[in-house]
Amino acid sequence: MGASGSGKTSMRSLIFSNNPASLTARLGATIDVEQNHVRFLGDLILNLWDCGGQDAFMDSYLTTQRSTIFQHVGVLIYVFDVETSEMPKDLEYYRDCLDGLRQFSPEAAVFLLVHKMDLARDKGAFDRKKKELLEHSEKQGQVLTSVTVFGTSIYDESLYRAWSSIVHTLIPNAAVLSKHLTIFAEACSATEVILFERTTFLVIATSSPPTSPPPEAGAAPFQELEATRYERTSELIKAFKHSCSRVREEFHSLEMELPEFSAVLDEMTKNTYVLIIVHDPTIETAALKLNIRMARRKFE
Ligand code: GTP
Repeated sequence: MGASGSGKTSMRSLIFSNNPASLTARLGATIDVEQNHVRFLGDLILNLWDCGGQDAFMDSYLTTQRSTIFQHVGVLIYVFDVETSEMPKDLEYYRDCLDGLRQFSPEAAVFLLVHKMDLARDKGAFDRKKKELLEHSEKQGQVLTSVTVFGTSIYDESLYRAWSSIVHTLIPNAAVLSKHLTIFAEACSATEVILFERTTFLVIATSSPPTSPPPEAGAAPFQELEATRYERTSELIKAFKHSCSRVREEFHSLEMELPEFSAVLDEMTKNTYVLIIVHDPTIETAALKLNIRMARRKFE
C-alpha cells in the first residue's frame, strides 16, 4: 500500500517481473487491487496484493473493503515517497491501515519503505523520515514490535535488501534452511553459501556468516566481506539475466576463478539457485559443482 505514484508497481515489476528500472516510467496507475501469485520454494506461494493508491481506492479499502483487504495479512508493506509533499495525508492513511491491521491481522509484520531515495535532497532525509514513521506507528505510546523501515530505490540494490528481508519473514522454515546451508558450507570448505529464489533472485537464506577469517593465509581478510554483498549479487545477477534474455539466451550458471576467491552459482532446486564462495585456492570449482549436484536431493 501507499500513495499513488510512490512506486509500488515499479518495485513489483522490477522484482517479480524481471523488468528493468527504465521501463517503470511507462506504468499506468493501478486500478483497485492487482493480485500476483508467485510460486516461491515448491509449495510456498506468495500472494501479493498491489493496492492502487489513489484516494478513492484508499477510502474504499478502509471502509467497504476493509475486512477483505486486512484479513489474513502476512506482511503489510507501506511505501512512502521520500520527497512527497503530502506527508500528512500519507500518514493519516497509514495510521488508518495500521488500525485495520490491528483489527483483522494483529500478527502481521509491517515494513515501511521510504522509497525513491535516489531523489532524496539531503543525507539526513532517511533518518528523519524513519523517526517520523516510527512515531506514527505508535498507539497509546506503544510501538508495534514488528515495524521495520528501509530506504529503497529502484536504481540500486537497496530494493533487494528490503524485499529479501520481507520475503525472509514469510518463509516458515528459514532457520532450518540456514542450518542446512551452514553444514553444506562446511562440507565445501566455503566461506559462505547463499540460497536465492530463482525468478526474483531474492536471498532466501544464507549459511551462518563466517565467524573467523577464511582458513588460507593470504586470503582476503574477513573484515573485507561487504555488508551489502547479498543485495548487490541479487541486483547484478538480475541485470545479467536481463542481458541474456535480450540476446535470447537463458541464464544457467556462473563460475568465477580469481586469485583471491572462487565462486560457483548454479541451480540448486527447481525454484532456487545456490552461490558458493570459497577462499581456499586449492579447491576446484568442479568439486563445488559436484557437491551441489549431490546436495540437490536434500534441498528439493
Ligand atoms: P499507483 O498505481 O497509482 O498506486 O502508483 P504506484 O505507487 O504503483 O507508482 P508507480 O510504480 O506507477 O511509479 C510512479 C513513478 O515513480 C514511475 O514513473 C516510476 O518510474 C517512478 N519511480 C518508481 N520508483 C522509483 C525510484 O526508486 N526512484 C525514482 N526516481 N523514481 C521511481
